[in-house]
Amino acid sequence: MKTILVTGGAGFIGSNFIRYILTSSDEFNIINLDALTYAGNLRNLCDVESNPLYRFIHGDIRDKDTVDRIFCENEIDYVINFAAESHVDRSITNPEIFLSTNILGTGVLLDAAKRHWSLSPDNKYCREYRDGVKFLQVSTDEVYGALGKEGFFKETTPLSPNSPYSASKASADMLVRSYGETFALPVNITRCSNNYGPYQFPEKLIPLMINNCVNEKPLPVYGDGLQIRDWLHVSDHCSAIMTVLLKGRASEVYNIGGNNEKANIEIVRLILDATGKDESLISYVKDRPGHDRRYAIDNTKITTELGWSPSYTFENGIRETIRWYLDNPDWVKEIVSGDYMNYYEKMYG
Ligand code: NAD
Ligand code: TYD
Repeated sequence: MKTILVTGGAGFIGSNFIRYILTSSDEFNIINLDALTYAGNLRNLCDVESNPLYRFIHGDIRDKDTVDRIFCENEIDYVINFAAESHVDRSITNPEIFLSTNILGTGVLLDAAKRHWSLSPDNKYCREYRDGVKFLQVSTDEVYGALGKEGFFKETTPLSPNSPYSASKASADMLVRSYGETFALPVNITRCSNNYGPYQFPEKLIPLMINNCVNEKPLPVYGDGLQIRDWLHVSDHCSAIMTVLLKGRASEVYNIGGNNEKANIEIVRLILDATGKDESLISYVKDRPGHDRRYAIDNTKITTELGWSPSYTFENGIRETIRWYLDNPDWVKEIVSGDYMNYYEKMYG
Protein backbone atom coordinates (compact mmCIF):
# COMPACT_ATOMS: atom_id res chain seq x y z
CA MET A 1 0.00 0.00 0.00
CA LYS A 2 1.39 3.43 -0.99
CA THR A 3 1.07 6.50 1.23
CA ILE A 4 0.38 9.91 -0.27
CA LEU A 5 1.08 13.06 1.68
CA VAL A 6 -1.50 15.52 0.36
CA THR A 7 -0.92 19.10 1.46
CA GLY A 8 -3.76 21.62 1.39
CA GLY A 9 -6.29 18.79 1.31
CA ALA A 10 -8.97 20.80 3.11
CA GLY A 11 -9.19 23.32 0.25
CA PHE A 12 -11.19 23.15 -2.94
CA ILE A 13 -9.08 20.94 -5.21
CA GLY A 14 -7.30 19.03 -2.43
CA SER A 15 -10.57 17.91 -0.85
CA ASN A 16 -11.96 16.84 -4.21
CA PHE A 17 -8.73 14.95 -4.83
CA ILE A 18 -8.89 13.09 -1.50
CA ARG A 19 -12.52 12.11 -2.12
CA TYR A 20 -11.62 11.04 -5.67
CA ILE A 21 -8.85 8.72 -4.41
CA LEU A 22 -10.76 7.27 -1.46
CA THR A 23 -13.86 6.55 -3.51
CA SER A 24 -12.11 5.14 -6.57
CA SER A 25 -9.41 2.95 -5.01
CA ASP A 26 -8.32 1.23 -1.83
CA GLU A 27 -4.64 1.21 -2.75
CA PHE A 28 -3.55 4.44 -1.09
CA ASN A 29 -3.25 5.76 2.43
CA ILE A 30 -3.80 9.49 2.50
CA ILE A 31 -2.30 11.89 5.02
CA ASN A 32 -3.77 15.36 4.68
CA LEU A 33 -1.55 18.15 6.06
CA ASP A 34 -3.45 21.42 6.12
CA ALA A 35 -3.05 24.65 8.12
CA LEU A 36 -6.80 25.39 7.86
CA THR A 37 -6.42 28.96 6.67
CA TYR A 38 -9.56 30.88 5.70
CA ALA A 39 -9.71 28.64 2.58
CA GLY A 40 -9.38 25.31 4.40
CA ASN A 41 -12.57 23.67 5.62
CA LEU A 42 -12.81 20.19 7.16
CA ARG A 43 -16.51 20.12 6.28
CA ASN A 44 -15.34 19.59 2.69
CA LEU A 45 -14.29 16.09 3.80
CA CYS A 46 -16.91 15.10 6.36
CA ASP A 47 -18.16 12.21 4.20
CA VAL A 48 -14.71 10.56 4.08
CA GLU A 49 -13.15 11.58 7.41
CA SER A 50 -13.80 8.22 9.09
CA ASN A 51 -12.28 6.21 6.23
CA PRO A 52 -9.45 4.13 7.78
CA LEU A 53 -7.19 5.01 4.85
CA TYR A 54 -7.45 8.72 5.65
CA ARG A 55 -5.78 10.84 8.33
CA PHE A 56 -5.82 14.60 8.91
CA ILE A 57 -2.89 16.48 10.43
CA HIS A 58 -3.37 20.12 11.35
CA GLY A 59 -0.10 21.83 10.45
CA ASP A 60 1.75 24.25 8.25
CA ILE A 61 3.93 23.24 5.29
CA ARG A 62 6.39 25.96 6.37
CA ASP A 63 6.92 24.25 9.73
CA LYS A 64 10.05 22.09 9.27
CA ASP A 65 9.53 20.12 12.49
CA THR A 66 5.98 19.13 11.63
CA VAL A 67 6.91 18.11 8.10
CA ASP A 68 9.96 16.22 9.34
CA ARG A 69 7.92 14.37 11.96
CA ILE A 70 5.38 13.28 9.32
CA PHE A 71 8.19 11.80 7.22
CA CYS A 72 9.79 10.12 10.25
CA GLU A 73 6.54 8.57 11.48
CA ASN A 74 5.17 7.45 8.11
CA GLU A 75 6.64 5.83 5.05
CA ILE A 76 5.60 8.54 2.60
CA ASP A 77 5.80 7.44 -1.05
CA TYR A 78 4.32 10.48 -2.75
CA VAL A 79 3.93 14.16 -1.92
CA ILE A 80 1.24 16.10 -3.78
CA ASN A 81 1.55 19.77 -2.91
CA PHE A 82 -1.78 21.55 -3.25
CA ALA A 83 -1.21 23.85 -0.25
CA ALA A 84 -1.06 27.46 -1.31
CA GLU A 85 -2.51 30.89 -1.08
CA SER A 86 -4.54 30.72 -4.26
CA HIS A 87 -6.52 33.91 -4.88
CA VAL A 88 -5.11 36.53 -7.27
CA ASP A 89 -7.11 39.41 -5.75
CA ARG A 90 -5.77 38.66 -2.26
CA SER A 91 -2.22 38.52 -3.66
CA ILE A 92 -2.66 42.08 -4.90
CA THR A 93 -3.61 43.41 -1.46
CA ASN A 94 -1.35 41.15 0.63
CA PRO A 95 1.47 39.55 -1.39
CA GLU A 96 3.72 38.60 1.53
CA ILE A 97 1.84 35.49 2.66
CA PHE A 98 1.93 34.25 -0.95
CA LEU A 99 5.73 34.38 -0.97
CA SER A 100 5.96 32.68 2.37
CA THR A 101 3.48 29.83 1.82
CA ASN A 102 3.84 29.23 -1.89
CA ILE A 103 7.62 29.53 -2.16
CA LEU A 104 9.14 28.83 1.27
CA GLY A 105 6.52 26.18 2.10
CA THR A 106 7.31 24.33 -1.12
CA GLY A 107 11.01 24.56 -0.23
CA VAL A 108 10.42 22.93 3.17
CA LEU A 109 8.50 20.04 1.59
CA LEU A 110 11.12 19.48 -1.12
CA ASP A 111 13.91 19.45 1.39
CA ALA A 112 12.15 16.94 3.65
CA ALA A 113 11.34 14.68 0.69
CA LYS A 114 14.96 14.78 -0.47
CA ARG A 115 16.39 13.96 2.97
CA HIS A 116 13.94 11.19 3.80
CA TRP A 117 13.89 9.56 0.38
CA SER A 118 17.63 9.75 -0.32
CA LEU A 119 19.48 6.43 -0.12
CA SER A 120 22.46 8.30 1.29
CA PRO A 121 21.23 11.55 2.86
CA ASP A 122 24.65 12.70 4.13
CA ASN A 123 26.30 12.47 0.72
CA LYS A 124 25.56 15.66 -1.21
CA TYR A 125 26.47 13.92 -4.48
CA CYS A 126 23.98 11.11 -3.96
CA ARG A 127 21.25 11.25 -6.58
CA GLU A 128 19.55 7.99 -5.65
CA TYR A 129 16.22 7.58 -3.91
CA ARG A 130 13.99 4.87 -2.54
CA ASP A 131 12.11 3.17 -5.38
CA GLY A 132 8.75 4.51 -6.43
CA VAL A 133 8.79 7.90 -4.71
CA LYS A 134 7.67 11.17 -6.32
CA PHE A 135 7.04 14.83 -5.51
CA LEU A 136 4.22 16.36 -7.54
CA GLN A 137 3.82 20.15 -7.51
CA VAL A 138 0.32 21.36 -8.36
CA SER A 139 0.93 24.55 -10.30
CA THR A 140 -1.14 26.75 -12.57
CA ASP A 141 -1.31 27.96 -16.16
CA GLU A 142 -1.10 31.50 -14.72
CA VAL A 143 2.70 31.14 -14.52
CA TYR A 144 2.78 31.58 -18.32
CA GLY A 145 1.23 35.06 -18.12
CA ALA A 146 -1.45 36.22 -20.54
CA LEU A 147 -2.31 35.33 -24.14
CA GLY A 148 -3.69 37.59 -26.85
CA LYS A 149 -6.52 36.43 -29.12
CA GLU A 150 -4.43 33.62 -30.63
CA GLY A 151 -2.25 30.79 -29.35
CA PHE A 152 -2.09 28.38 -26.44
CA PHE A 153 0.18 27.74 -23.46
CA LYS A 154 2.52 24.82 -24.13
CA GLU A 155 4.90 23.34 -21.55
CA THR A 156 7.69 25.15 -23.42
CA THR A 157 6.04 28.59 -23.23
CA PRO A 158 8.37 30.90 -21.26
CA LEU A 159 7.17 31.75 -17.76
CA SER A 160 5.92 35.32 -17.53
CA PRO A 161 3.76 35.67 -14.41
CA ASN A 162 1.86 38.92 -13.94
CA SER A 163 0.38 38.78 -10.43
CA PRO A 164 2.09 38.22 -7.09
CA TYR A 165 0.11 34.94 -6.94
CA SER A 166 1.38 33.65 -10.28
CA ALA A 167 4.89 34.95 -9.56
CA SER A 168 4.95 32.97 -6.31
CA LYS A 169 3.73 29.83 -8.10
CA ALA A 170 6.34 30.30 -10.84
CA SER A 171 9.04 30.67 -8.18
CA ALA A 172 7.90 27.44 -6.54
CA ASP A 173 8.01 25.71 -9.94
CA MET A 174 11.61 26.86 -10.37
CA LEU A 175 12.51 25.46 -6.98
CA VAL A 176 10.89 22.11 -7.82
CA ARG A 177 12.73 22.05 -11.13
CA SER A 178 16.03 22.75 -9.36
CA TYR A 179 15.55 19.77 -7.02
CA GLY A 180 15.00 17.61 -10.09
CA GLU A 181 18.11 18.93 -11.82
CA THR A 182 20.58 19.28 -8.91
CA PHE A 183 19.52 16.36 -6.75
CA ALA A 184 17.70 14.13 -9.30
CA LEU A 185 14.69 14.12 -6.98
CA PRO A 186 11.81 12.49 -8.92
CA VAL A 187 9.49 15.46 -9.51
CA ASN A 188 6.64 16.48 -11.76
CA ILE A 189 4.93 19.82 -12.16
CA THR A 190 1.34 20.06 -13.38
CA ARG A 191 -0.03 23.36 -14.70
CA CYS A 192 -3.77 23.42 -14.82
CA SER A 193 -6.28 25.94 -16.09
CA ASN A 194 -9.16 27.36 -13.97
CA ASN A 195 -11.06 24.68 -12.06
CA TYR A 196 -14.74 24.65 -11.23
CA GLY A 197 -16.87 22.22 -9.22
CA PRO A 198 -18.18 21.59 -5.69
CA TYR A 199 -16.50 22.98 -2.53
CA GLN A 200 -14.85 26.00 -4.17
CA PHE A 201 -14.47 28.96 -1.84
CA PRO A 202 -16.91 31.70 -2.94
CA GLU A 203 -14.23 34.31 -3.54
CA LYS A 204 -13.62 32.76 -6.98
CA LEU A 205 -15.73 33.71 -10.00
CA ILE A 206 -18.21 30.84 -10.30
CA PRO A 207 -19.25 30.22 -6.66
CA LEU A 208 -19.22 33.96 -5.95
CA MET A 209 -21.61 34.66 -8.82
CA ILE A 210 -23.90 31.76 -7.86
CA ASN A 211 -24.06 32.95 -4.25
CA ASN A 212 -24.76 36.52 -5.30
CA CYS A 213 -27.51 35.37 -7.69
CA VAL A 214 -29.15 33.36 -4.91
CA ASN A 215 -29.05 36.41 -2.64
CA GLU A 216 -29.93 38.84 -5.45
CA LYS A 217 -26.74 40.82 -4.88
CA PRO A 218 -24.93 42.68 -7.70
CA LEU A 219 -22.61 40.50 -9.81
CA PRO A 220 -19.23 42.32 -9.90
CA VAL A 221 -17.80 41.83 -13.39
CA TYR A 222 -14.27 43.22 -13.70
CA GLY A 223 -13.61 45.57 -16.61
CA ASP A 224 -15.46 44.62 -19.80
CA GLY A 225 -15.99 40.98 -18.74
CA LEU A 226 -14.39 39.73 -21.95
CA GLN A 227 -11.37 38.12 -20.28
CA ILE A 228 -11.15 34.45 -21.18
CA ARG A 229 -10.46 31.49 -18.92
CA ASP A 230 -10.13 27.81 -19.96
CA TRP A 231 -12.38 25.91 -17.54
CA LEU A 232 -11.77 22.37 -16.28
CA HIS A 233 -14.02 20.36 -13.96
CA VAL A 234 -12.16 19.65 -10.72
CA SER A 235 -12.68 15.88 -10.99
CA ASP A 236 -10.97 15.90 -14.39
CA HIS A 237 -8.09 17.77 -12.75
CA CYS A 238 -7.94 15.05 -10.06
CA SER A 239 -7.78 12.24 -12.61
CA ALA A 240 -5.06 14.12 -14.49
CA ILE A 241 -2.96 14.54 -11.34
CA MET A 242 -3.25 10.83 -10.60
CA THR A 243 -2.23 10.05 -14.18
CA VAL A 244 0.88 12.23 -13.91
CA LEU A 245 1.71 10.82 -10.47
CA LEU A 246 1.66 7.23 -11.73
CA LYS A 247 2.80 7.63 -15.33
CA GLY A 248 4.55 11.00 -15.71
CA ARG A 249 8.22 10.97 -16.69
CA ALA A 250 10.50 12.37 -13.98
CA SER A 251 11.27 16.10 -14.18
CA GLU A 252 8.57 16.70 -16.77
CA VAL A 253 5.95 19.44 -16.74
CA TYR A 254 2.41 18.56 -17.86
CA ASN A 255 -0.24 21.14 -18.78
CA ILE A 256 -3.82 20.18 -17.90
CA GLY A 257 -6.80 21.74 -19.62
CA GLY A 258 -10.19 20.81 -21.00
CA ASN A 259 -10.40 23.00 -24.14
CA ASN A 260 -13.23 25.08 -22.67
CA GLU A 261 -12.49 28.72 -23.29
CA LYS A 262 -15.23 31.04 -22.06
CA ALA A 263 -15.40 34.81 -21.54
CA ASN A 264 -16.28 35.75 -17.95
CA ILE A 265 -19.48 37.47 -19.04
CA GLU A 266 -20.66 34.25 -20.75
CA ILE A 267 -20.23 32.40 -17.45
CA VAL A 268 -22.11 35.12 -15.56
CA ARG A 269 -25.01 34.99 -18.06
CA LEU A 270 -25.15 31.23 -17.84
CA ILE A 271 -25.38 31.40 -14.03
CA LEU A 272 -28.10 34.06 -14.24
CA ASP A 273 -30.05 31.83 -16.61
CA ALA A 274 -29.63 28.69 -14.47
CA THR A 275 -30.73 30.50 -11.30
CA GLY A 276 -33.65 32.25 -12.97
CA LYS A 277 -32.32 35.78 -12.37
CA ASP A 278 -32.10 38.63 -14.85
CA GLU A 279 -29.26 40.67 -16.25
CA SER A 280 -30.04 43.74 -14.15
CA LEU A 281 -27.88 42.12 -11.43
CA ILE A 282 -24.74 42.51 -13.58
CA SER A 283 -22.53 45.32 -12.28
CA TYR A 284 -19.40 46.23 -14.25
CA VAL A 285 -16.75 47.28 -11.72
CA LYS A 286 -13.18 48.61 -11.91
CA ASP A 287 -10.86 46.10 -13.53
CA ARG A 288 -8.35 44.03 -11.56
CA PRO A 289 -4.88 45.62 -11.90
CA GLY A 290 -2.65 43.60 -14.23
CA HIS A 291 -5.65 41.48 -15.24
CA ASP A 292 -4.58 38.67 -17.59
CA ARG A 293 -6.70 38.84 -20.74
CA ARG A 294 -6.77 35.23 -21.86
CA TYR A 295 -5.61 31.79 -20.70
CA ALA A 296 -5.77 28.71 -22.94
CA ILE A 297 -4.02 25.39 -22.50
CA ASP A 298 -2.55 23.13 -25.15
CA ASN A 299 -3.05 19.72 -23.53
CA THR A 300 -1.45 17.66 -26.32
CA LYS A 301 1.38 16.37 -24.12
CA ILE A 302 -0.75 14.81 -21.37
CA THR A 303 -3.34 13.45 -23.78
CA THR A 304 -0.93 11.87 -26.25
CA GLU A 305 1.92 10.84 -23.93
CA LEU A 306 -0.08 9.71 -20.88
CA GLY A 307 -3.47 8.95 -22.43
CA TRP A 308 -5.45 11.27 -20.13
CA SER A 309 -8.54 13.08 -21.35
CA PRO A 310 -11.25 15.06 -19.56
CA SER A 311 -14.59 13.34 -19.08
CA TYR A 312 -16.85 16.34 -18.44
CA THR A 313 -18.28 18.60 -21.11
CA PHE A 314 -18.48 22.16 -19.83
CA GLU A 315 -22.26 22.22 -20.35
CA ASN A 316 -22.81 19.19 -18.07
CA GLY A 317 -20.16 20.18 -15.56
CA ILE A 318 -21.40 23.71 -15.01
CA ARG A 319 -25.07 22.66 -14.68
CA GLU A 320 -24.10 19.99 -12.14
CA THR A 321 -21.91 22.50 -10.28
CA ILE A 322 -24.59 25.19 -10.07
CA ARG A 323 -27.02 22.51 -8.82
CA TRP A 324 -24.50 21.49 -6.12
CA TYR A 325 -24.28 25.04 -4.72
CA LEU A 326 -28.07 25.41 -4.80
CA ASP A 327 -28.49 22.05 -3.02
CA ASN A 328 -25.88 22.84 -0.34
CA PRO A 329 -26.92 26.19 1.13
CA ASP A 330 -25.64 25.25 4.59
CA TRP A 331 -22.11 24.73 3.29
CA VAL A 332 -22.17 28.15 1.60
CA LYS A 333 -23.86 29.84 4.56
CA GLU A 334 -21.22 28.70 7.01
CA ILE A 335 -18.46 30.19 4.86
CA VAL A 336 -20.10 33.48 4.04
CA SER A 337 -21.07 34.10 7.66
CA GLY A 338 -17.49 34.32 8.95
CA ASP A 339 -14.56 36.49 7.90
CA TYR A 340 -15.87 36.33 4.36
CA MET A 341 -18.16 39.32 4.92
CA ASN A 342 -15.19 41.48 5.97
CA TYR A 343 -13.27 40.35 2.89
CA TYR A 344 -16.26 41.00 0.65
CA GLU A 345 -16.81 44.49 2.06
CA LYS A 346 -13.14 45.43 1.62
CA MET A 347 -12.95 43.95 -1.88
CA TYR A 348 -16.25 45.08 -3.35
CA GLY A 349 -17.24 47.87 -0.93
P1 NAD B 1 -7.68 26.71 -1.93
O1 NAD B 1 -7.31 28.13 -1.59
O2 NAD B 1 -9.12 26.34 -2.02
O3 NAD B 1 -7.02 25.72 -0.86
C1 NAD B 1 -5.72 25.88 -0.37
C2 NAD B 1 -5.56 24.97 0.84
O4 NAD B 1 -4.21 25.10 1.30
C3 NAD B 1 -6.46 25.34 2.03
O5 NAD B 1 -7.05 24.18 2.58
C4 NAD B 1 -5.52 25.99 3.02
O6 NAD B 1 -5.92 25.81 4.37
C5 NAD B 1 -4.22 25.24 2.72
N1 NAD B 1 -3.03 26.01 3.12
C6 NAD B 1 -2.74 27.31 2.84
N2 NAD B 1 -1.56 27.64 3.39
C7 NAD B 1 -1.07 26.52 4.00
C8 NAD B 1 0.11 26.23 4.71
N3 NAD B 1 1.05 27.16 4.93
N4 NAD B 1 0.29 24.98 5.17
C9 NAD B 1 -0.65 24.02 4.97
N5 NAD B 1 -1.79 24.24 4.31
C10 NAD B 1 -2.01 25.48 3.83
O7 NAD B 1 -6.90 26.40 -3.28
P2 NAD B 1 -7.32 25.44 -4.49
O8 NAD B 1 -8.17 26.21 -5.42
O9 NAD B 1 -7.80 24.15 -3.94
O10 NAD B 1 -5.90 25.24 -5.20
C11 NAD B 1 -5.06 24.16 -4.81
C12 NAD B 1 -3.78 24.25 -5.62
O11 NAD B 1 -4.08 24.21 -7.01
C13 NAD B 1 -3.00 25.54 -5.39
O12 NAD B 1 -1.64 25.23 -5.33
C14 NAD B 1 -3.31 26.39 -6.62
O13 NAD B 1 -2.24 27.25 -6.91
C15 NAD B 1 -3.49 25.32 -7.68
N6 NAD B 1 -4.39 25.64 -8.80
C16 NAD B 1 -5.66 26.08 -8.56
C17 NAD B 1 -6.52 26.33 -9.63
C18 NAD B 1 -7.96 26.77 -9.41
O14 NAD B 1 -8.66 27.06 -10.39
N7 NAD B 1 -8.46 26.79 -8.18
C19 NAD B 1 -6.06 26.17 -10.94
C20 NAD B 1 -4.74 25.72 -11.14
C21 NAD B 1 -3.93 25.45 -10.06
P1 TYD C 1 -10.87 33.94 -10.39
O1 TYD C 1 -11.96 32.98 -10.10
O2 TYD C 1 -10.41 34.87 -9.30
O3 TYD C 1 -9.66 33.11 -11.00
P2 TYD C 1 -8.28 33.63 -11.72
O4 TYD C 1 -8.09 35.06 -11.44
O5 TYD C 1 -7.26 32.78 -11.05
O6 TYD C 1 -8.46 33.31 -13.17
O7 TYD C 1 -11.34 34.86 -11.61
C1 TYD C 1 -11.72 34.29 -12.86
C2 TYD C 1 -12.00 35.44 -13.80
O8 TYD C 1 -13.17 36.15 -13.32
C3 TYD C 1 -10.89 36.47 -13.84
O9 TYD C 1 -10.77 36.97 -15.18
C4 TYD C 1 -11.38 37.59 -12.92
C5 TYD C 1 -12.88 37.52 -13.08
N1 TYD C 1 -13.67 37.93 -11.90
C6 TYD C 1 -14.66 38.93 -12.01
O10 TYD C 1 -14.90 39.49 -13.10
N2 TYD C 1 -15.35 39.27 -10.88
C7 TYD C 1 -15.12 38.71 -9.67
O11 TYD C 1 -15.78 39.08 -8.66
C8 TYD C 1 -14.12 37.67 -9.58
C9 TYD C 1 -13.82 37.00 -8.26
C10 TYD C 1 -13.42 37.32 -10.71
